[in-house]
Amino acid sequence: MCGIVGYIGAQQAAPILLEGLARLEYRGYDSAGIAVLGARGAAKVVRRVGRVHALAAAVPAKTSGRVGIGHTRWATHGVPSETNAHPHASADGRIQVVHNGIIDNAAALRARLTAEGVELASETDTEALAHLIARANEDTLEAAVVAALAQVTGTYAIAVVDAATPDRIVVARNGSPLVIGVGEREMFVASDAAALVRHTSSVVHLEDGELASVTATGFRTFTREHEDVAKTPTTVELTVEELELAGHEHFMHKEIHEQPSSVERMLGGRLDDRFGSARLDGLRMELRELRGFRRVKVLGCGSAYYVGQLGAGLIEDLARVPADAEPASEFRYRNPVIEPDTLYVAVSQSGETADTLFAVREIQRKGGRVVGLVNVVGSSIARQCDGGIYLHAGPEVSVASTKALTHMSVGFALLALALGRVHDLSHADGARILAGLQALPGQIAEILADEETIAEAGRRLADARSLFFIGRVRGFPVAREAAQKFKEITYRHAEAYPSSELKHGPLALIDADLPTVAIIPDDGLVGRNLAAAHEIRARGGRLTVITHPGVDLGDLEADRIDIPRNEPELDPILLTIPTQLLAYHAARALGEDIDRPRNLAKSVTVE
Ligand code: AGP
Repeated sequence: MCGIVGYIGAQQAAPILLEGLARLEYRGYDSAGIAVLGARGAAKVVRRVGRVHALAAAVPAKTSGRVGIGHTRWATHGVPSETNAHPHASADGRIQVVHNGIIDNAAALRARLTAEGVELASETDTEALAHLIARANEDTLEAAVVAALAQVTGTYAIAVVDAATPDRIVVARNGSPLVIGVGEREMFVASDAAALVRHTSSVVHLEDGELASVTATGFRTFTREHEDVAKTPTTVELTVEELELAGHEHFMHKEIHEQPSSVERMLGGRLDDRFGSARLDGLRMELRELRGFRRVKVLGCGSAYYVGQLGAGLIEDLARVPADAEPASEFRYRNPVIEPDTLYVAVSQSGETADTLFAVREIQRKGGRVVGLVNVVGSSIARQCDGGIYLHAGPEVSVASTKALTHMSVGFALLALALGRVHDLSHADGARILAGLQALPGQIAEILADEETIAEAGRRLADARSLFFIGRVRGFPVAREAAQKFKEITYRHAEAYPSSELKHGPLALIDADLPTVAIIPDDGLVGRNLAAAHEIRARGGRLTVITHPGVDLGDLEADRIDIPRNEPELDPILLTIPTQLLAYHAARALGEDIDRPRNLAKSVTVE
């Protein structure tokens, strides 16, 4: 979604802003812009619809100035257009504002400003903020921003510059992430530390309700009540290399292939052979507390929710504790009953998904205990939760998530194991799961080594306008996530069904033009799954089957993908891997923009 970058220091601001914006491209956007304050006090503003490179081409080479702010916009209020792109300015162009989030009372503010004679140039909520700051009648930019924000309801991360005082950037946060990057006599601001990776790894996270005044030599953080807040910078572990393609054609491909090593890294130090359990200090929970939970509720959005469903299944399997998953976006609006003996688990790659974050807060307000399965260290959800398991997948640039989802499944396996071992899971079964976890990196590598077989099957699916993905029980969340991945990057309609449900309706759609990808592990349901596959074939439906070696497909005509066996509880983790490559190679055959699918954003920071 939208991205913010700001710079103040001794270097030229424009190239730094443009490079930072390019690093935020993966978040999804439709237009971009920068404002640079030159020595003569006027802001130079360039905005463009489309990609950052189009903006960079439009920025005059002589754009000089050592202070500036930049933005990538994902349209909410008003269509993607140059006038709606950020920065937005006050009537005299003195105040320039970039904003992530949504101002809920924008319509009322815009009406009031119009009634007061202000001519609004755009359709956006953000522009109102620029006018409010300019009209605040305060002595300092900091006080003007505080006064303007007092009139605003909604979510925001903002960066503001004033051409009359070009020695500072004022930033504020409420519900949208914002970090200050600390350099050597230069300072940065950004909505995502990835934008700063080339310049500094020392960052300060703002909390909701906090502001900062950032100059070339330092920063001051304070509240909306003007009380100072002391902050110590932390180090982000992010390298430029992690954000580059490293020889791969797409980030999605790179991230799929990183999984063997990233999963190995994630497991490091977390497997407890002595007790046949998982070591999860980040949960910040005594064993007795862990044992006290009678239920587990998993909350996440999109693919994180589907993996949450897989995770709930793992928890029920291993810990025999009732568990289910629900989209966080629905949960928070249905006045849920929060129980003290339920362990709530929020799952998110970005750690910034607004619906998941608000669900966590809702649970905590009502006294519930929430732990997070989060990838981005220091993200809003990670900091909001009462404890958690960091996924350590490394940065994920592709909008379509792959390795982070695999890490979520592994995180759930660790949690299920730890919960199981304080309930009825035997030491022997714990050891069996530990061995299964240890085998995962090698087995993922084995699947990836057979990429060409999967790629061929993927290319054959590319011509379908619509597809089914089917699986049963443990295989159903796999099918759901597989369908999600396929539709996100191929723009083909893909739907997931439990194989058992086909006869109850969807079978009516099967014909030669609607292929099915069937998840058929060698488990107790293999016979029933095969019967469903035969029913599809008998109606002329094409099939791709993801299964285990030794499963006899008989005379079933199908593209077959075999994956290595692990423990039955962990098999879904491996079954998902080929579905990532199926989607990738189908999208590649179609020539789609794989890493940046249309209309989607990497982190959905608005409701
Ligand atoms: C995954 O491919 C999707 N882009 C999307 O469904 C994503 O999983 C969802 O928006 C949740 O994001 P999060 O994990 O960052 O919370």
